[in-house]
Amino acid sequence: MDGNGRWAQARGEPRIVGHEAGAESVRAITRECARLGVGELTLYAFSNENWKRPQEEVDLLMGLLRRYLIDERPEIMDNDIRFRVIGRTASMPEPVLEEMRQTISMSADNPGMVLRLALSYGGRQEIIDAAARLVELAKEDPARAAALAASEDGFRSQLYEPGMRDPDLLIRTAGEQRISNFLLWQISYSEIHVTSVMWPEFREAQLHAAFADYQGRERRFGGLIEGVGGERTDRTGDR
Ligand code: FPP
Repeated sequence: MDGNGRWAQARGEPRIVGHEAGAESVRAITRECARLGVGELTLYAFSNENWKRPQEEVDLLMGLLRRYLIDERPEIMDNDIRFRVIGRTASMPEPVLEEMRQTISMSADNPGMVLRLALSYGGRQEIIDAAARLVELAKEDPARAAALAASEDGFRSQLYEPGMRDPDLLIRTAGEQRISNFLLWQISYSEIHVTSVMWPEFREAQLHAAFADYQGRERRFGGLIEGVGGERTDRTGDR
């Protein structure tokens, strides 16, 4: 959700004003994704690296997040959304964790879209944490650890949320053309949509444009497309 700071600075406002406007985009995009029948929406709200920002900005972001977790409950429940979090959340402040746990547990049985926040999240860290779990498991059950480490599905089972689907589409705002440590394992075959729009201005119309862009893509998962030099080889179960 890039561009909050730049959006605010361009208006002569402090960065936090951009984060507040960004929280409005979170609301609008979540509602629209749920309405359109998106299965899962994962938002990169705070990275491992974001802890290095000035303490004042970190504190303001944590406050905004806590407020969001409280204020969004009716919206989450009314839209049947299941709220989840991935990341090294133990490093989050306790008041945020408390609200997070409550929103997760109250929405746990909702049948609709999964809304997942990546918080204190880093893609490399997630992979390292999975490897560390396998090392721990190897002390008790070496054969099982070796079996898990030998396959993609086995290794995936040690990630933060093994059941999450690989994203079909990754949207990057504010013109950044890099991954920045987001879901490194899960985005192997995701389509990428880059827009120059700053996150606070990324609303329904921009989401629709991203989906239209995605609909024009040919997804091959490393295989070939029928009629373009070979048999159709997209694998059932691949996403
Ligand atoms: C990146 O923009 C954005 C963040 C580090 C924080 C994202 C937070 C929100 C959208 C609001 C709070 C979250 C929720 C879920 C309510 P940036 O600050 O790096 O902007 P820049 O790239 O212009 O500097």
